[in-house]
Parts: sequence; C-alpha cells; structure tokens
Amino acid sequence: DIFGDERLNSAAINIDIDAQWQPFSTAVAAFADHQWQAASLPMTTTDVSAEIITVTAPYDRREVVGEVTFATEVQVDEAISRAENAFDDWSASAASVRCHYLCLLAEQLQQHQHELVALCHREAGKTIQDSIDEIREAVDFCRYYAQQATLRFESSQQITNYHGIEQQLRYQGRGVFVCISPWNFPLAIFIGQISAALAAGNTVVAKPAEQTSLIAYRAIELLLETGIPAGVIQLLPGRGVNIGQQLLSDERIAGVVFTGSTPTAQAINRTLAARACPPVPFIAETGGQNAMIVDSTALPEQVVRDVVRSAFASAGQRCSALRVLFVQADIADRVIDLIKGAMAEIKVGRPELHRTDVGPVIDRTARNKLMTHIETLKNQAKLIAQTPLSAECQFGDFVPPTAIEISDISLLEQEHFGPILHVIRFKADALYQIIDQINHTGFGLTLAIHSRNERTYLDIEQRVHVGNCYINRDQVGAAVGVQPFGGQGQSGTGPKAGGPHYLYRFTQDCILPINN
Ligand code: SER
Repeated sequence: DIFGDERLNSAAINIDIDAQWQPFSTAVAAFADHQWQAASLPMTTTDVSAEIITVTAPYDRREVVGEVTFATEVQVDEAISRAENAFDDWSASAASVRCHYLCLLAEQLQQHQHELVALCHREAGKTIQDSIDEIREAVDFCRYYAQQATLRFESSQQITNYHGIEQQLRYQGRGVFVCISPWNFPLAIFIGQISAALAAGNTVVAKPAEQTSLIAYRAIELLLETGIPAGVIQLLPGRGVNIGQQLLSDERIAGVVFTGSTPTAQAINRTLAARACPPVPFIAETGGQNAMIVDSTALPEQVVRDVVRSAFASAGQRCSALRVLFVQADIADRVIDLIKGAMAEIKVGRPELHRTDVGPVIDRTARNKLMTHIETLKNQAKLIAQTPLSAECQFGDFVPPTAIEISDISLLEQEHFGPILHVIRFKADALYQIIDQINHTGFGLTLAIHSRNERTYLDIEQRVHVGNCYINRDQVGAAVGVQPFGGQGQSGTGPKAGGPHYLYRFTQDCILPINN
C-alpha cells in the first residue's frame, strides 16, 4: 500500500482484518449474481417509460452489477408528498428519538460492512481500503450528528430572562429537505447528508448520483429496517438532468443540501432562485483547485509521501485532492525525482486486489475527459511521470496516474477530477504571487503547506482563502467531528460537514417568550 494508510487499525468500525477476507470474498461472489432492482423500493412503477439502466463495474465493463429503475415524474411528486405528510410527527418527536434511528443505522452499516465493501468496490470501483473508509465515515456521520442533535436540540435553550419573562429558544426541522449526493462518496456523503437532515427534524427526499444508485438503495433498505417511521425517508434514483428541475422547483421543499461539481451547484442555485415561492437554504459543497505549497525548508521525503497520497489516492476522485503542487525551485529537482520514484511503485488495477493502490475512475465519460486533458497538456507542458496501466485494466475505465510540469496555474481553467498532478516551480521571491494566483482561481477548498518555518506557514495560511488548510501533512481524509470539512468561494457555501455548526443550517429557530 503505497499510501501507507494506517487508519485501518483505528477505524471506528473496528474491522477484524483476518476475519474480514473470507466473508468479504463471499459477499463479492454473492453480488456476482445479484440483480439489484430499485423497483422493490418505493420506486415500483408500472410506467413503461421509466428508464431502466444496467449497472456495470468500472474496473471491468463486462461485469453486470445490477439494474436500477429511475424515478418517473409521478414518483418525484409522490415522494415529496409522502415526505411532507410525515414531517409534522417526525419534527415533533424528541431529537433523541430521531437520533435513536441513526444509531441503529450505524449498527446496521457495521453489521453489513462486508456486503457494503463489496458493493462499493463493484459499483463505484473503490479499492478495499477506500471502501472500508467509506463505511467507517458513514457510521461516524450517523453517530456524530445523532450526538450533536441530541446535545443541541433535545430541549429548548433558556436565554436571558427579563421582567419576569422567561425566554426559550427552540430549534425545529424546516420541512422536506432534498439531499443530492455524489458518486465519489456514495455511502459516506449520501448517509452524511441524510443523517444531518433527519437529526435536525426534517424529512428527506434523497437523490443519489445516478452512477451509484445501488449503494444508495441498499443503504436506504438498511435505514428502513431500523423501523424509522414511514414516509420520513424517500429515495429518488435518477438523473439530475431529468428529475432535478421538477424536484427543485417544487414549492413543498424546504431546503437543499448538495455535494458535487461547482457548475452543478450553480445550476441548482439558479433553479432555486427562479422559484416563485419563499427562498430556501442551499448548502453546497463543491470542487476545488487544491494546491500544496512546498518551500525550501520542507523535508522532501515527507513531502513526496503526502503528495502521492493527496493526488492519487482514490484515483484523485476526492474534492479535497491535490491538483497543483507549487514547489520552491531550490528543492524542485529533488522533489520531482522522488515523485517519479514513488509513481513507479504505484499499482493501478482491479480494486478488490489487496495490492492495488489506484483503481478505476467512475465512468467512461470521466475517463475520456481526463485523458483528453492529459493529451492536451502534453503538447504544452513537460511530462514528469505516468504510471503504466497493466493488462488487467483493459476492460475498465482507468486513467494512469500522471504528473506533469506546467508553467502557470492559469492553464487550468477547471477542476480535473482524477489522478493528475500539476507541478509548478516557484522562486522564493514569488511566494506572494502564487498565493494571489491560488486565490484568483476563486476556489477555496483545501490547501497543504510543507515548511519547517512556522512564520512562513502561518503567513501563507492567513492569506490563502480555503476551508481546510493542512500543514506538513497530506490534505485528504478529513475525519468527521475532528476536521469539519468544507470550502469557501466557488468551493462551497458552508457550514462544514462533520462540524458543530452544520446542523443549524437544517433547522429554523423559534423564540418563545413566556409570561409566567
Ligand atoms: N471529506 C473528504 C476528504 O477530506 C472529501 O470529500 O478527503
């Protein structure tokens, strides 16, 4: 494992590694024949126009994982109605009662971890390590938001009393919350959004990314098995372009939480702004043009370990991933040499193999876009290294991890969501210029700084506008409740997921002056 991931042993899920492999491969085998049909969920439809898609594995498109029936217009309408009808009772129940279901869901996820690992690897092409992390993070979200909601919303807060008037502040759910989640964390972010919205007292219509509908489907089945009241959670598998407009324009929805690309967030924002009904909160967590700044005092060996993990782990398909490495010219040759060496050791291949470091990207469209970007850059930049693909990659959507030296960040007009590292050398006296360039991209998600000079890293940290700034470490893998995650500017609205302020945005507060 080139990424040296030590978190396996400290995982909240506490998987017994030895016991894991047998059940895991059994689960994989079981999935081979399993035809998943969203039709057995509320998605049952007799509408022959409903789109049914066949899901295939990103690492080998000949392997069928299952089938999904996408929601129809009628079902979108019905889902919102059911969630709306369930709202009053759900919102009136105590926070601890609502959160009990989330704790039960955490247990369900743990009990079904092998099956979920198998499904994450099959449908999303995740490596075993990433699949395990995925389940752990989903469990952490359930427990963290359950704990936070119970702490903050269980009883009214007393605020300053005067003239014998007692004042209470009470938090309530807002109504039907729409949760739109991405394929890169098909369980963790999917469950994270839903658990936050539910804990805060909302009912939920969840629209998962179309590429990972089966994982979402299985997670909702597990949630329903907790005995959560009927109607509180609704799943709408489907394509954003087909059902997004109808869903977001519906005046019965009370809020939207979205994680995905910046252009999609902008499109959602426009749709919400065009509604004739009252405005609703929109929480967006989007992309980044994430940089790492390395000055000449940094330790090249440590830098390279963190660069390789930040840029290539999860096939670079994390919104937090490193895209642009700025390295001070004095140590650039040394760092680049070490990057070349490390990239020669990366194993790209089938994600269920323990030796694999980098699996496939999500689909053919993503692959083609990334390959086009690499080819375009090759004509105007200097290729540093490209990890070769082995024969086992021939039937899947793989992109070779690529490092390329460019002259200027302005060559990158958008985020390239995959295993591509851009490297730029800078002279010591140009530090403030590169800070300006990073800010000028308009994105502000993650930044890493490698420097042993405290004044330098504190100065950079003050000047670069990002949500998560990591010093002398990698910049991926924010831990729920410990490193709240979210960006600024084009990278998101905040508040940060997995942090203490997140749940408030899903609520409305009511003040009760009581004349005793
Ligand atoms: N939270 C993830 C990370 O920190 C990205 O979504 O890598």
